Amino acid sequence: MPAIFAYAPGKIILIGEHAVVYGRPAIAVPVEQVRARAMVWANPRLPSNSIQIKAPDVGLNAWLSEMPADHPIALAIKYVLDALAIDHSPAFSLQITSSIPIAAGLGSGAAISIAIIRAVSTFLGRPLNEARVSELAFEVEKHYHGTPSGIDNTVITYGMPVYYVRDLPPETLRVGRAFNIVIGDSGVKSPTALAVGDLRKRWQADQAFYEGLFDQIAELAQSARQLIEAGHPDMLGILMDQNHALLQTLDISSPELDRLVEAARTAGAIGAKLSGGGRGGNMIALTSPERAEQIARALQGAGAVQTIITTIKATPQTSIGEAYSPQDISK
Ligand code: PMV
Repeated sequence: MPAIFAYAPGKIILIGEHAVVYGRPAIAVPVEQVRARAMVWANPRLPSNSIQIKAPDVGLNAWLSEMPADHPIALAIKYVLDALAIDHSPAFSLQITSSIPIAAGLGSGAAISIAIIRAVSTFLGRPLNEARVSELAFEVEKHYHGTPSGIDNTVITYGMPVYYVRDLPPETLRVGRAFNIVIGDSGVKSPTALAVGDLRKRWQADQAFYEGLFDQIAELAQSARQLIEAGHPDMLGILMDQNHALLQTLDISSPELDRLVEAARTAGAIGAKLSGGGRGGNMIALTSPERAEQIARALQGAGAVQTIITTIKATPQTSIGEAYSPQDISK
């Protein structure tokens, strides 16, 4: 049997991180330039039922049976076996590699889980559908993210722009006109769970104040949706700037992120903000295609350890003149 490969992209949040944990809408898009890959192959040399895990990027080479039960890789495999009601799996090897920076707000954890869930379920002969893949990845996220909203596993599983509200079926977002984003990595590792947990403590102490800020972010996400769908992405810039200011008020930014955001604006970005968990990790800048390289260089000059230029493509019309209605993609 040939080896099975499965992939999952990275992601950025255009508008609405953190507020999305508290039920407000957020918009996220996949980033195809970076991805996680899982490869599974039958390994007749292994003792029966044994599962070998290799993740050379992080120096991991272990038997599943010897890994902590709550290790994210172990959990992803366990959830697949449970979902398929398989007690004794045939012996296999699983190799995981990823070009998505870890703890940087690009969804590396969710992408790795999703690649594993796809590869292992396919290897076992019963590939899970997208809704199930997303659901199992969400279960893994809950173990090491605290109170995840579910936006990461959703956008990464479906690999298309989403308008996401926690506990509601995810909706695709029609992109009326393509636009370009430069992503800059501050190089500061910042686990999302810490930023989310810290904000939760402050929210518990003063709910009225934080709920008010989340409402303002929700309005930005709703406006952003209309602009993206109507084909006016250039007008998103001001919303991104406002979102960054609100994230600063939430104390989710950092000096490094603020410096990159400022550098992007000075170099001609239409708008810029941090993206994801914050306190470190990545920021994003909206740009015209002509200015993208210039902004990427400015970000590198201001300390970015990696930059990615990505295009959010326009959604193809399925048929001429067909009215668009958002799709519930969870079925
Ligand atoms: O995984 P990150 O760092 O992109 O963060 C996800 C966005 C948050 O809103 C901060 C958390 C969540 O679960 O939605």
